Amino acid sequence: MPKVMVDFYKLVNALSTALDLIGAGIRHHHIRVALIARQIATELNLSENEINEIVYAALVHDVGISTFKEKAALLNFEIKESYTHCVRGHYLLQTSTLLKPLAKIVLCHHDRWSGANKTGLQGTGIPLASRIIHLADRVDILIDDNQYILDQRELIINNIKKMAGQLFDPYLVDEFLNTSQKPSFWLDLAGGQCEKILLQQMNKQAWQGLCQKNNCKVAINLEELLNISEIFAQVIDAKSNFTHRHSKLVADVSTSMAVLLDFSEAQCQTIKIASLLHDLGKLAIPESILEKPGVLTNTEMNLMKSHTYYTYRILELVPGFEQIKEWAAYHHECLNGSGYPFGIKTEDLSTESRMMAISDIFAALVEDRPYRQGMPRHQVEKILLDKVARQHLDGQLVELLLDNYDQLLICKESV
Ligand SMILES: [Fe+2]
Ligand SMILES: [Fe+2]
Ligand SMILES: [Fe+2]
Repeated sequence: MPKVMVDFYKLVNALSTALDLIGAGIRHHHIRVALIARQIATELNLSENEINEIVYAALVHDVGISTFKEKAALLNFEIKESYTHCVRGHYLLQTSTLLKPLAKIVLCHHDRWSGANKTGLQGTGIPLASRIIHLADRVDILIDDNQYILDQRELIINNIKKMAGQLFDPYLVDEFLNTSQKPSFWLDLAGGQCEKILLQQMNKQAWQGLCQKNNCKVAINLEELLNISEIFAQVIDAKSNFTHRHSKLVADVSTSMAVLLDFSEAQCQTIKIASLLHDLGKLAIPESILEKPGVLTNTEMNLMKSHTYYTYRILELVPGFEQIKEWAAYHHECLNGSGYPFGIKTEDLSTESRMMAISDIFAALVEDRPYRQGMPRHQVEKILLDKVARQHLDGQLVELLLDNYDQLLICKESV
């Protein structure tokens, strides 16, 4: 299996940034929770490896959430129901060898110290990393971005203190009280520099041998990168019942097209990764727009057009993802330059990007939608050929798809 050099921290950080696109109301939640959790873990004098495991888990702790609605429910300090996203996060992380060690931490990240948890755990039986992330998560929820940070710290500290021994490990609350005395603790969270600050701290440390000092680049085989991309495809697809397998279908169709074009195994795998991530930016789009049964208003359409922009901006955070970024994010660009978000033209659209655009439209047309069933072949063919005539899609690649229509349609049955 071919390997690629990836900066593992930057990959996880990019995916964490994608998770932060979901919902309004908590900005930079994952990165801020990671920063707070790291401060508490450092107070405890844990080993570098333990601290980093906590940071990685914090960066993806809400991976079990896909919708604005689920995210909004977590804004209450004492959440009523939090177990569903913990279980889902646990399930998703277990599918990746590299992220698997974080699964149990994520499962327990809302467990109450005093017990009565669905995990059956309480007190020190709850993993320490989960207890730290739980505390950090609730501190972040209490921060009001509309108020000056240092003016609210007393209130936040008092709210946390009240819950020592109930929601939170009292020993950790003491450590939090120590570290939160410093104004810098709070200023770091509010200054818009969290990412930079955390990166500087992480550069010095390792986790599971995945980062060496000042160099987080590690050789990861493409299969593992595929597993991680599949996790995020599932997060994207879970946003809507009507597109719940869309990313997977686009990936299967574009990979099958790559095979038909005799691309190498590594190229096919890379195309699959880009396809799985092509709608990453849809995490920023409210479900009410994604599921709207009818034509979008101008404002809604303008918002919708931002999704490929976000896909691009997130994937560009990962060094080594330059091609993946373009193949994924250019799927609404057109050969004649009338597409979005960059309006680029033929000469800048690679075969892979053109293929992605075709697979995306094909998948969308054959899938059932809230307002219609999946389209039959004659309608799909008409739409695709019309787009070729208008110089939106590549004619040769559309021909390839039409010549192998039945074979590619099987992908729909297998996703
Ligand atoms: Fe959570
Ligand atoms: Fe899209
Ligand atoms: Fe799509």
